[in-house]
Amino acid sequence: MSNPFETLKSEMDELVVGHDDVKTALLLGVVAREHIYIQGPPGTAKTMLSEIVSKSAELDFFFYQMHRDTRLSELVGDLVISREDTKDGEIIRQNILKGGILTSDICLLDDISRAPGESLNVLLRILNERKYGEENIPLLTAIATSNPTADEYYNEPLDPANLDRFVIQVNSNGISYGKQWEDVKKVIGLYATKNGAVNFVAKVGKKALDDSYESLQNVVIPVEVQEGLVSFITWLVEDQRLNESNSVISDRTFLVKSLKLIKASAVIDNRNEANLSDLKVLKFLLPFRVPEEILEAAEQKLESLENQKKKTKK
Ligand SMILES: Nc1ncnc2c1ncn2[C@@H]1O[C@H](COP(=O)(O)OP(=O)(O)O)[C@@H](O)[C@H]1O
Ligand SMILES: [Mg+2]
Repeated sequence: MSNPFETLKSEMDELVVGHDDVKTALLLGVVAREHIYIQGPPGTAKTMLSEIVSKSAELDFFFYQMHRDTRLSELVGDLVISREDTKDGEIIRQNILKGGILTSDICLLDDISRAPGESLNVLLRILNERKYGEENIPLLTAIATSNPTADEYYNEPLDPANLDRFVIQVNSNGISYGKQWEDVKKVIGLYATKNGAVNFVAKVGKKALDDSYESLQNVVIPVEVQEGLVSFITWLVEDQRLNESNSVISDRTFLVKSLKLIKASAVIDNRNEANLSDLKVLKFLLPFRVPEEILEAAEQKLESLENQKKKTKK
Protein backbone atom coordinates (compact mmCIF):
# COMPACT_ATOMS: atom_id res chain seq x y z
CA MET A 1 0.00 0.00 0.00
CA SER A 2 1.30 3.43 -0.79
CA ASN A 3 2.20 5.78 2.03
CA PRO A 4 -0.93 7.80 2.89
CA PHE A 5 1.20 10.87 3.50
CA GLU A 6 2.59 10.81 0.00
CA THR A 7 -0.98 10.88 -1.23
CA LEU A 8 -1.94 13.71 1.12
CA LYS A 9 1.14 15.67 0.14
CA SER A 10 0.60 15.19 -3.57
CA GLU A 11 -3.06 16.19 -3.29
CA MET A 12 -1.97 19.40 -1.55
CA ASP A 13 0.75 20.01 -4.12
CA GLU A 14 -1.66 19.48 -6.96
CA LEU A 15 -4.08 22.15 -5.79
CA VAL A 16 -1.89 24.59 -3.88
CA VAL A 17 1.37 26.04 -5.12
CA GLY A 18 4.16 26.64 -2.59
CA HIS A 19 3.45 26.92 1.15
CA ASP A 20 5.60 23.90 1.92
CA ASP A 21 5.86 24.77 5.60
CA VAL A 22 2.10 25.00 6.03
CA LYS A 23 1.68 21.69 4.23
CA THR A 24 4.23 20.00 6.47
CA ALA A 25 2.72 21.60 9.57
CA LEU A 26 -0.70 20.18 8.67
CA LEU A 27 0.69 16.69 8.18
CA LEU A 28 2.56 16.85 11.47
CA GLY A 29 -0.56 18.12 13.22
CA VAL A 30 -2.84 15.32 12.07
CA VAL A 31 -0.23 12.63 12.74
CA ALA A 32 0.95 13.88 16.13
CA ARG A 33 -2.53 15.12 17.10
CA GLU A 34 -1.27 18.50 18.10
CA HIS A 35 -2.85 21.88 17.48
CA ILE A 36 -1.54 24.24 14.84
CA TYR A 37 -1.32 28.02 14.72
CA ILE A 38 -0.96 29.58 11.26
CA GLN A 39 -0.35 33.26 10.98
CA GLY A 40 -0.77 34.77 7.58
CA PRO A 41 -2.71 37.25 5.48
CA PRO A 42 -6.07 36.33 3.94
CA GLY A 43 -6.15 34.46 0.66
CA THR A 44 -2.99 32.38 1.13
CA ALA A 45 -4.78 29.03 0.86
CA LYS A 46 -4.85 28.28 4.60
CA THR A 47 -8.50 27.23 4.48
CA MET A 48 -8.05 25.37 1.24
CA LEU A 49 -5.13 23.30 2.54
CA SER A 50 -7.05 22.41 5.70
CA GLU A 51 -9.99 21.32 3.57
CA ILE A 52 -7.83 19.15 1.35
CA VAL A 53 -6.42 17.29 4.35
CA SER A 54 -9.78 16.80 5.95
CA LYS A 55 -11.49 15.70 2.71
CA SER A 56 -8.75 13.27 1.84
CA ALA A 57 -8.59 11.77 5.32
CA GLU A 58 -12.41 11.81 5.47
CA LEU A 59 -12.40 13.77 8.68
CA ASP A 60 -15.34 15.51 10.21
CA PHE A 61 -14.48 19.15 9.58
CA PHE A 62 -15.71 22.12 11.56
CA PHE A 63 -15.05 25.60 10.26
CA TYR A 64 -15.67 28.62 12.39
CA GLN A 65 -15.00 32.26 11.65
CA MET A 66 -14.24 33.94 14.97
CA HIS A 67 -15.56 37.42 15.60
CA ARG A 68 -15.55 39.83 18.46
CA ASP A 69 -18.89 38.59 19.83
CA THR A 70 -18.15 34.88 19.47
CA ARG A 71 -19.91 33.02 22.25
CA LEU A 72 -18.72 29.68 23.48
CA SER A 73 -22.05 28.05 22.62
CA GLU A 74 -21.38 28.71 18.92
CA LEU A 75 -18.22 26.62 19.17
CA VAL A 76 -19.56 23.66 21.12
CA GLY A 77 -22.91 23.09 19.46
CA ASP A 78 -26.41 24.50 19.51
CA LEU A 79 -28.24 25.83 22.49
CA VAL A 80 -31.62 24.21 22.94
CA ILE A 81 -34.18 25.71 25.21
CA SER A 82 -36.80 23.43 26.62
CA ARG A 83 -39.93 24.35 28.57
CA GLU A 84 -41.82 22.17 30.91
CA ASP A 85 -45.09 22.98 32.64
CA THR A 86 -45.19 21.72 36.19
CA LYS A 87 -47.62 22.32 38.99
CA ASP A 88 -45.15 24.82 40.43
CA GLY A 89 -44.94 26.73 37.19
CA GLU A 90 -42.91 26.66 34.04
CA ILE A 91 -39.32 25.34 34.08
CA ILE A 92 -37.05 26.54 31.35
CA ARG A 93 -33.90 24.55 30.72
CA GLN A 94 -30.97 25.39 28.59
CA ASN A 95 -29.10 22.43 27.12
CA ILE A 96 -26.49 22.11 24.50
CA LEU A 97 -26.74 19.79 21.59
CA LYS A 98 -23.12 18.90 21.13
CA GLY A 99 -21.49 19.91 17.89
CA GLY A 100 -18.65 22.13 16.69
CA ILE A 101 -15.32 21.42 18.33
CA LEU A 102 -16.87 18.74 20.54
CA THR A 103 -17.79 16.39 17.72
CA SER A 104 -15.36 17.18 14.89
CA ASP A 105 -12.06 15.47 14.05
CA ILE A 106 -10.44 18.60 12.74
CA CYS A 107 -11.45 22.20 13.13
CA LEU A 108 -10.39 25.46 11.60
CA LEU A 109 -10.80 28.47 13.86
CA ASP A 110 -10.31 31.44 11.62
CA ASP A 111 -9.08 34.73 13.09
CA ILE A 112 -8.76 33.35 16.58
CA SER A 113 -7.41 36.60 17.99
CA ARG A 114 -10.80 38.21 17.42
CA ALA A 115 -12.57 36.04 19.97
CA PRO A 116 -13.42 37.76 23.22
CA GLY A 117 -11.49 36.67 26.31
CA GLU A 118 -14.20 34.69 28.04
CA SER A 119 -14.95 32.48 25.02
CA LEU A 120 -11.29 32.17 24.17
CA ASN A 121 -10.28 31.00 27.62
CA VAL A 122 -12.82 28.21 27.73
CA LEU A 123 -12.09 27.27 24.12
CA LEU A 124 -8.37 26.98 24.81
CA ARG A 125 -9.00 24.94 27.92
CA ILE A 126 -11.13 22.46 25.96
CA LEU A 127 -8.49 22.27 23.23
CA ASN A 128 -5.76 21.74 25.77
CA GLU A 129 -7.50 19.09 27.84
CA ARG A 130 -9.30 17.52 24.89
CA LYS A 131 -12.21 17.05 27.22
CA TYR A 132 -15.61 18.59 27.72
CA GLY A 133 -16.67 17.99 31.28
CA GLU A 134 -15.60 14.41 31.90
CA GLU A 135 -15.88 13.31 28.31
CA ASN A 136 -13.02 13.01 25.84
CA ILE A 137 -13.54 14.71 22.52
CA PRO A 138 -12.55 13.12 19.18
CA LEU A 139 -10.60 16.14 17.94
CA LEU A 140 -7.27 15.32 16.28
CA THR A 141 -6.13 18.83 15.63
CA ALA A 142 -7.39 22.37 15.86
CA ILE A 143 -5.99 24.79 13.35
CA ALA A 144 -6.15 28.41 14.42
CA THR A 145 -5.36 31.23 12.05
CA SER A 146 -4.70 34.87 12.54
CA ASN A 147 -3.97 37.83 10.33
CA PRO A 148 -0.58 39.40 11.04
CA THR A 149 -1.50 42.96 10.20
CA ALA A 150 -2.14 45.23 13.14
CA ASP A 151 -5.75 46.03 12.23
CA GLU A 152 -7.14 44.20 15.21
CA TYR A 153 -7.78 47.44 17.04
CA TYR A 154 -10.50 45.94 19.20
CA ASN A 155 -8.53 42.97 20.37
CA GLU A 156 -5.08 42.04 21.53
CA PRO A 157 -3.15 39.37 19.66
CA LEU A 158 -3.05 36.06 21.49
CA ASP A 159 -0.68 36.26 24.40
CA PRO A 160 2.36 33.97 24.44
CA ALA A 161 0.95 31.63 27.07
CA ASN A 162 -2.16 31.04 24.94
CA LEU A 163 -0.15 30.65 21.77
CA ASP A 164 1.96 28.04 23.50
CA ARG A 165 -1.06 25.72 23.48
CA PHE A 166 -0.63 25.47 19.72
CA VAL A 167 2.43 23.26 19.66
CA ILE A 168 2.94 23.63 15.92
CA GLN A 169 3.41 27.18 14.69
CA VAL A 170 3.94 28.44 11.18
CA ASN A 171 4.00 31.62 9.14
CA SER A 172 2.10 31.66 5.88
CA ASN A 173 3.26 34.39 3.55
CA GLY A 174 1.66 35.50 0.32
CA ILE A 175 3.67 34.47 -2.72
CA SER A 176 3.20 37.77 -4.57
CA TYR A 177 4.59 39.92 -1.75
CA GLY A 178 7.18 37.20 -1.24
CA LYS A 179 8.27 37.89 -4.85
CA GLN A 180 8.17 34.19 -5.62
CA TRP A 181 7.59 34.82 -9.29
CA GLU A 182 7.95 31.21 -10.36
CA ASP A 183 5.16 30.26 -7.97
CA VAL A 184 3.08 33.21 -9.14
CA LYS A 185 3.33 31.85 -12.69
CA LYS A 186 2.33 28.39 -11.51
CA VAL A 187 -0.80 29.61 -9.69
CA ILE A 188 -1.86 31.61 -12.72
CA GLY A 189 -1.18 28.59 -14.93
CA LEU A 190 -3.23 26.42 -12.59
CA TYR A 191 -6.28 28.66 -12.71
CA ALA A 192 -5.92 29.27 -16.41
CA THR A 193 -6.81 25.60 -16.90
CA LYS A 194 -8.63 24.44 -13.76
CA ASN A 195 -11.14 25.89 -11.37
CA GLY A 196 -9.33 24.75 -8.22
CA ALA A 197 -12.26 22.95 -6.64
CA VAL A 198 -11.42 20.70 -3.71
CA ASN A 199 -14.11 18.19 -4.64
CA PHE A 200 -12.07 15.39 -6.11
CA VAL A 201 -9.22 14.58 -3.80
CA ALA A 202 -7.83 11.07 -3.50
CA LYS A 203 -8.98 9.52 -0.26
CA VAL A 204 -6.55 8.10 2.27
CA GLY A 205 -9.24 7.66 4.92
CA LYS A 206 -9.22 8.20 8.65
CA LYS A 207 -7.94 4.74 9.45
CA ALA A 208 -4.61 5.65 7.88
CA LEU A 209 -4.29 8.44 10.43
CA ASP A 210 -5.33 6.19 13.30
CA ASP A 211 -2.72 3.66 12.24
CA SER A 212 -0.03 6.27 12.00
CA TYR A 213 -0.90 7.58 15.46
CA GLU A 214 -0.52 4.04 16.78
CA SER A 215 2.83 3.63 15.09
CA LEU A 216 4.16 6.82 16.67
CA GLN A 217 4.68 4.89 19.88
CA ASN A 218 7.01 2.47 18.18
CA VAL A 219 9.34 5.02 16.66
CA VAL A 220 12.84 4.76 18.06
CA ILE A 221 14.79 7.94 18.65
CA PRO A 222 18.49 7.05 18.56
CA VAL A 223 21.01 8.71 20.86
CA GLU A 224 22.49 10.88 18.10
CA VAL A 225 19.06 12.42 17.47
CA GLN A 226 18.54 12.96 21.20
CA GLU A 227 21.94 14.66 21.32
CA GLY A 228 21.02 16.79 18.34
CA LEU A 229 17.93 18.00 20.19
CA VAL A 230 20.01 18.80 23.27
CA SER A 231 22.52 20.76 21.24
CA PHE A 232 19.75 22.71 19.52
CA ILE A 233 18.18 23.73 22.83
CA THR A 234 21.62 24.58 24.20
CA TRP A 235 22.25 26.76 21.15
CA LEU A 236 18.93 28.58 21.62
CA VAL A 237 19.50 29.36 25.27
CA GLU A 238 23.28 29.77 25.52
CA ASP A 239 24.25 31.17 22.12
CA GLN A 240 21.08 33.04 21.21
CA ARG A 241 20.56 34.10 24.82
CA LEU A 242 16.91 33.23 25.00
CA ASN A 243 15.36 33.58 28.43
CA GLU A 244 12.04 34.11 30.20
CA SER A 245 11.80 37.70 29.04
CA ASN A 246 12.32 37.23 25.30
CA SER A 247 10.96 33.78 24.51
CA VAL A 248 8.73 30.87 25.54
CA ILE A 249 11.02 27.85 25.68
CA SER A 250 8.84 25.70 27.89
CA ASP A 251 10.12 22.30 29.02
CA ARG A 252 6.82 20.78 27.98
CA THR A 253 7.19 21.98 24.40
CA PHE A 254 10.91 21.59 23.89
CA LEU A 255 11.62 18.45 25.90
CA VAL A 256 8.41 16.49 25.40
CA LYS A 257 6.33 17.70 22.46
CA SER A 258 9.50 18.07 20.37
CA LEU A 259 10.03 14.30 20.54
CA LYS A 260 6.47 13.66 19.44
CA LEU A 261 7.00 15.82 16.37
CA ILE A 262 10.30 14.11 15.59
CA LYS A 263 8.49 10.77 15.72
CA ALA A 264 5.68 12.11 13.54
CA SER A 265 8.24 13.24 11.00
CA ALA A 266 9.68 9.71 10.86
CA VAL A 267 6.20 8.18 10.48
CA ILE A 268 5.35 10.57 7.64
CA ASP A 269 8.54 9.42 5.95
CA ASN A 270 7.58 5.76 6.48
CA ARG A 271 10.31 5.00 9.03
CA ASN A 272 10.18 3.52 12.51
CA GLU A 273 13.48 5.08 13.50
CA ALA A 274 14.08 8.80 13.65
CA ASN A 275 17.15 10.32 12.07
CA LEU A 276 18.90 13.70 12.15
CA SER A 277 16.83 15.07 9.30
CA ASP A 278 13.73 14.76 11.49
CA LEU A 279 15.21 17.47 13.72
CA LYS A 280 14.12 19.94 11.06
CA VAL A 281 10.59 19.76 12.46
CA LEU A 282 11.85 21.73 15.45
CA LYS A 283 11.47 24.83 13.34
CA PHE A 284 7.70 24.45 13.85
CA LEU A 285 8.20 25.10 17.55
CA LEU A 286 9.79 28.48 17.03
CA PRO A 287 7.87 31.16 15.07
CA PHE A 288 5.86 32.80 17.84
CA ARG A 289 7.98 31.60 20.73
CA VAL A 290 11.32 33.14 19.87
CA PRO A 291 12.34 36.55 18.46
CA GLU A 292 11.83 36.78 14.71
CA GLU A 293 15.49 37.66 14.10
CA ILE A 294 16.71 34.23 15.05
CA LEU A 295 14.29 32.16 12.96
CA GLU A 296 16.53 32.01 9.95
CA ALA A 297 19.63 31.22 11.96
CA ALA A 298 17.69 28.45 13.72
CA GLU A 299 16.80 26.83 10.42
CA GLN A 300 20.44 26.93 9.40
CA LYS A 301 21.41 25.42 12.72
CA LEU A 302 18.99 22.54 12.15
CA GLU A 303 20.39 22.00 8.65
CA SER A 304 23.91 21.95 10.05
CA LEU A 305 22.94 19.33 12.64
CA GLU A 306 21.68 17.16 9.81
CA ASN A 307 24.80 17.64 7.74
CA GLN A 308 27.19 16.99 10.61
CA LYS A 309 26.06 13.43 10.50
CA LYS A 310 26.75 13.06 6.81
CA LYS A 311 30.32 14.28 7.35
CA THR A 312 31.06 11.97 10.27
CA LYS A 313 29.56 9.02 8.45
CA LYS A 314 31.91 9.32 5.47
N1 LIG B 1 -0.65 29.19 -3.49
C1 LIG B 1 -1.86 28.96 -4.03
N2 LIG B 1 -2.05 27.94 -4.88
C2 LIG B 1 -3.27 27.72 -5.40
N3 LIG B 1 -4.36 28.45 -5.15
C3 LIG B 1 -4.23 29.48 -4.30
C4 LIG B 1 -2.98 29.79 -3.69
N4 LIG B 1 -3.15 30.85 -2.89
C5 LIG B 1 -4.44 31.18 -2.98
N5 LIG B 1 -5.11 30.37 -3.81
C6 LIG B 1 -6.55 30.46 -4.16
O1 LIG B 1 -7.12 31.45 -3.33
C7 LIG B 1 -8.24 30.93 -2.65
C8 LIG B 1 -8.33 31.59 -1.28
O2 LIG B 1 -7.65 30.84 -0.35
P1 LIG B 1 -8.19 30.51 1.10
O3 LIG B 1 -7.85 29.08 1.35
O4 LIG B 1 -9.58 30.91 1.29
O5 LIG B 1 -7.22 31.47 1.91
P2 LIG B 1 -7.12 31.83 3.41
O6 LIG B 1 -7.86 30.79 4.17
O7 LIG B 1 -5.64 31.82 3.64
O8 LIG B 1 -7.70 33.19 3.55
C9 LIG B 1 -8.04 29.45 -2.60
O9 LIG B 1 -9.25 28.76 -2.53
C10 LIG B 1 -7.33 29.18 -3.91
O10 LIG B 1 -8.30 29.11 -4.94
MG1 LIG C 1 -9.51 31.29 5.30
